[in-house]
Amino acid sequence: MNFELTISPISEIDADVEVILIVDKNFKHNFVKNRKLLKKANFKAEQDESYLLVEKNRLFIGVEKINDKNLRVAMAKAIQRLKSTKYKSLKVACYFENKESTHNLRAMVEGLLLGAYSFNKYKTKKSKQKLKDVTISLEEYHGFELDKQECEDAIKLAQITADATNFTRDIVNTTPNDCYPDTLAQIAQGLAEELNLECKILKPKEIKKEKMEALLAVARASRHKPRVIHLAHKPKNPKAVISLIGKGLTYDSGGLSLKPSTSMVNMKLDKSGASAVLGILKAVSKMNLPVEVHGFVGAVENMIGGDAYKPDDVLISKSGKTIEVRNTDAEGRLVLADVLAYAQQEVEADYIFDLATLTGASVVALGQYTSAVMGNCDTPKDMVIEASKEAGELATKLDFNRHLRKSLKSNVADISNISNTPYGGAITAGIFLDNFIEKENKDKWAHIDIAGPAYVEHTWGENPVGASGYGVRMMTRLVEKLAK
Ligand code: BES
Ligand code: ZN
Ligand code: ZN
Repeated sequence: MNFELTISPISEIDADVEVILIVDKNFKHNFVKNRKLLKKANFKAEQDESYLLVEKNRLFIGVEKINDKNLRVAMAKAIQRLKSTKYKSLKVACYFENKESTHNLRAMVEGLLLGAYSFNKYKTKKSKQKLKDVTISLEEYHGFELDKQECEDAIKLAQITADATNFTRDIVNTTPNDCYPDTLAQIAQGLAEELNLECKILKPKEIKKEKMEALLAVARASRHKPRVIHLAHKPKNPKAVISLIGKGLTYDSGGLSLKPSTSMVNMKLDKSGASAVLGILKAVSKMNLPVEVHGFVGAVENMIGGDAYKPDDVLISKSGKTIEVRNTDAEGRLVLADVLAYAQQEVEADYIFDLATLTGASVVALGQYTSAVMGNCDTPKDMVIEASKEAGELATKLDFNRHLRKSLKSNVADISNISNTPYGGAITAGIFLDNFIEKENKDKWAHIDIAGPAYVEHTWGENPVGASGYGVRMMTRLVEKLAK
């Protein structure tokens, strides 16, 4: 999609279709044309509601109130509504909360690009995006001058963010027969070449040398061998150093603690954390942000077979701590235990964040649309929450407590991989990971359980059916804020 900014009034712009956002439910503003028709059509201008007046080539979209979140969704709804039409070019006026609001423009462009996404890889008939040209008028609906360069920059940031999010969506949506651990490694390598990033891929031999026995145990029954990926964006004189760790289960069958068949469907999503980490690295390097960002991915497939790891096994993790396996479906935390240890060994970071589709319990607790943010210290957690609000993703905190800590005790090893209580599963998984965070890093770390929002089987807001690319927008924002 091409974007053009202009100060010409919208009426003077030549385009196939005009998108008109309606904030005022009574259609009182004099720029609202076709009032009678809208009333006749019973268009109420509710948020998310759209009405296409084909005769006039006008698409009306309801917006509850002008803010980033609503504008992003409104533009996503607009482009989704136009998908089945033959319009090639679109014009829209930019809506602003106030004078400094180029972020409103960013939100609108993000909405268009995120809403235009569809996953076609496995369809023999590919639906093509016909709409190519978007002209945005900065003039008509407000009486002040905006800095054109700032507006151009806002569009650029939106394009990078949305492109990286869609890139992550594509990886997650790709099926386990086409995307296995080595595929993730290839994608990382590709990014490294394209964007001049540092990239190191550990294969089984090197992983063994690093003593990542917990990760190797999970990987053992799969014909697809594991990979550990370290991808880094290293600008000169960085303002901060951060490590991002992604759970990259390219498939989670549950292992010998096999998932019931209905729960196994969609478990290609279990690489969402890893895919987000790759997307974030793509975005921060394209934005050229002065922050050193390290991405670590544990890429593994959890399968069954004669060689599979078992409930009752005791694993010696990279950290030296021993883990009693009581459920092979709690595999993500085993992989992360080792990758977290590796990340801490390799990089002395100011902040450490892990993104993982770790527990069904987090979805039970918060619903499908919100991630759970955990850790020992409010600073990194609040950074995530703040960034999520600006980026338009939903995230909330779940607190650790000392009572739940006890539930991971093991009679035979240092720790059990599952809790002895059926309650609070998102938190006990977070506490398990905390056992692999070194003392000096306790306050620098936050764990983000994205099991809910990473993959949803219906459209929601600006997100499509399937992978949402959750985490890319939020964590890119977080890095942008560190860069300031
Ligand atoms: N990958 C799953 C978590 C998951 C479930 C993600 C649903 C997305 C949607 C994870 O590996 C898992 O299986 N967790 C178990 C943990 C349990 C065995 C303690 C779970 O949530 O049931
Ligand atoms: Zn599992
Ligand atoms: Zn899993």
